[in-house]
Amino acid sequence: MSRKKADPAADETAEGIHTDPKTKKKAEKEARRAEKKAEKEKKRAQKRAGQTTAKSSSSKAEGRSSPESDEKTSDLPPEMNPSNYIEKVGLVTDEVIDEIIEPEHLLVHHHRDYHLADIQARRFMSKLMESIGDESLVRQKMKDIRELGHRTSERIAKLLGRNPEGVSKTLFGLKRKEYYFRYKRLPHTAEEIRAALEKAKDEARNKLDAVTHDGRPWIRLLLTGGTGFVGQEIMWQSAFDDDIVEVVVLIRPKKIRDRRARKMVTLSPTERGQRLLEQLWLADTPFSGKYRFIAGDIELPRLGVSDEDYDRLQTTLTHVVHCAASVAFDDPYEESFRANVTGTLNALEFSRGLQEAEDSPLVSHLAIETSYIHGRQTKDVAREDEIVFPRNFYNNYYELTKAMASIETERYMLDHGLRVVQLCPAIVIGESRAGNNRGDTKVVNAPVNVFGRAHQALQHKKGNFFDRTRAATVARMALLFPGDPSAELNLIPVDRVVQGIAAALRRPDAVGERVHLATDNRLTSQQIRDIVKDELGVEVRLADPTVHRNVTLPVLSKILGSLKQQRLANALEKLGTIFGGYSEWGQPIHEVGNDVKYLGLSPERPNTQFAFRMLCRHNRYVQQFGAVRDPDEISRRERLWWNIVMQLERETSRPVGAMEPEAFQRAITRWIDPETFERVG
Ligand SMILES: NC(=O)c1ccc[n+]([C@@H]2O[C@H](COP(=O)([O-])OP(=O)(O)OC[C@H]3O[C@@H](n4cnc5c(N)ncnc54)[C@H](OP(=O)(O)O)[C@@H]3O)[C@@H](O)[C@H]2O)c1
Repeated sequence: MSRKKADPAADETAEGIHTDPKTKKKAEKEARRAEKKAEKEKKRAQKRAGQTTAKSSSSKAEGRSSPESDEKTSDLPPEMNPSNYIEKVGLVTDEVIDEIIEPEHLLVHHHRDYHLADIQARRFMSKLMESIGDESLVRQKMKDIRELGHRTSERIAKLLGRNPEGVSKTLFGLKRKEYYFRYKRLPHTAEEIRAALEKAKDEARNKLDAVTHDGRPWIRLLLTGGTGFVGQEIMWQSAFDDDIVEVVVLIRPKKIRDRRARKMVTLSPTERGQRLLEQLWLADTPFSGKYRFIAGDIELPRLGVSDEDYDRLQTTLTHVVHCAASVAFDDPYEESFRANVTGTLNALEFSRGLQEAEDSPLVSHLAIETSYIHGRQTKDVAREDEIVFPRNFYNNYYELTKAMASIETERYMLDHGLRVVQLCPAIVIGESRAGNNRGDTKVVNAPVNVFGRAHQALQHKKGNFFDRTRAATVARMALLFPGDPSAELNLIPVDRVVQGIAAALRRPDAVGERVHLATDNRLTSQQIRDIVKDELGVEVRLADPTVHRNVTLPVLSKILGSLKQQRLANALEKLGTIFGGYSEWGQPIHEVGNDVKYLGLSPERPNTQFAFRMLCRHNRYVQQFGAVRDPDEISRRERLWWNIVMQLERETSRPVGAMEPEAFQRAITRWIDPETFERVG
């Protein structure tokens, strides 16, 4: 499976604002390469997704269908059919509607911007939110306005002798919603569920006791996704965890370009693992012996593990931590499904095989999910103990397929008695004290890096007048970002997430529970904008998301096209549409508490403002806003960065995230040469 990440948008966007001819040439070369790669990947994805992708793109080209115009056929393989999980229910009759559910119908974008009046209404709501700041009041006002629209339509319809529904739809884009979606109920009574959970917890307690010697559990875990952002932090924290005696990391081979040999080479799982240990600064330490790397692929049955490896794991593994996934917000449904649902099913079946084997010491299976399985559940708090189909749908197929995977995990627990802990991180950002993220450029890193590069372009004084003006124009466009000032983002530093995962290994009471690894101190778009201004010196302009989507982006696209910047236009569009969804008002509130109750984590969650500041500082100096990509170089820089941040913390006796931006900049440039990233002084 090819994995498209969200970050190329950032990189492409940034390329368009270079002004130095050398850099520009390099950027153009890279751009051509990226374009070819993207084209190839698109073709591959289309081939894999078969007619479905072609169909959805053609329906896009023809204009978005209204939510009611459900297609009657689906080309999806039966196992990918959303109806396996979800049902469409009549609002009035409360009866299940026997219609095919297309994945697209489960996404937010399918249900908005279908009528000028709808666009205006959303814009109005956004403005109201900005001035009133009270979500429930705004919702009530909108409800009143809608009712007024319906009443007016009824009167007009009466005068014209027409159907009132048709009139309100044509005139005001108003529809009385006739249906809703809900997850299919699992066929278990509350009593059965309670009994199953108690049994699973009891068994986990006994199993943990059985692997505990001298008061210490001897944990041997299998980790999927160890090469990823969260997985690397799991590997890192495992090194210093005395209870963890072995980490078997499941890795797939990877093709990379060998710069010296100037050709593509395939790295074996062992080679990748060895490199990983070096990049994690663990290779030449006594901890390196803890790690073992085996070949596998989560999309294959039994995770693609060889018979030989499997036989050994059956008698040794105490835990399986399934962390691998596709975290691309723009993958087609089929790709997300394969990585996130099929991958999860393979991991669950793998663990079930272990658990049922006679000599297996398996304690539990840890499923790494996401708190965004709740999608846009805007009215009620997204609870930890249940998953409800979101009233306002999902932002993307990543969220949707992770939700389906969570349901499969529940099924395994209830149908097969698998001892599972479900751990749901919110949006994961770099380490809380220093911002280290091992080169991750996904999710919030992508816009932060674009802003940073836009700022660099604005500062750039080289080139002729035309080049400079063009670069500045493009940079200003990149600084326009869709977002309601009040929209709240749930950011959680990676170290806290992995503390939760590590705690779950030895907490039998967590078995059968879903735990949000999220924050209770959420940041608003406004705060994010202010921190970006402080730290990167750049003024991001928050644009009304509805206007941005419907008016600004298309206009920008045209302008950029005429400036021969079509690729940049595409990248901005991608960034705006992918991330814009997370900065609209009405973001879900993720309940927290199980992290303390079941995992024993501190109730004082990391200070998100400090952590986000450190992310900005880290991305500026260490990543150079995504320009530094070589994992070895990132590793070198992050080590130095960590040491300096810790030194600063000792000297000032307070978190470095609390330091004023100017004071931090003075301190950091005293110790690091920003160009070479070598220690000075
Ligand atoms: N990052 C976030 O903000 C966030 C938030 C909430 C939850 N999560 C969850 O946390 C987990 C880890 O996320 P992340 O940010 O660390 O993702 P990531 O950096 O994109 O890493 C994904 C990992 O999955 C592996 N993988 C993907 N497909 C695979 C396959 N077919 N076979 C074997 N390995 C495969 C990748 O291996 P390769 O190196 O071979 O590609 C990589 O190690 C995911 O379950 C995600 O849903 C992440």
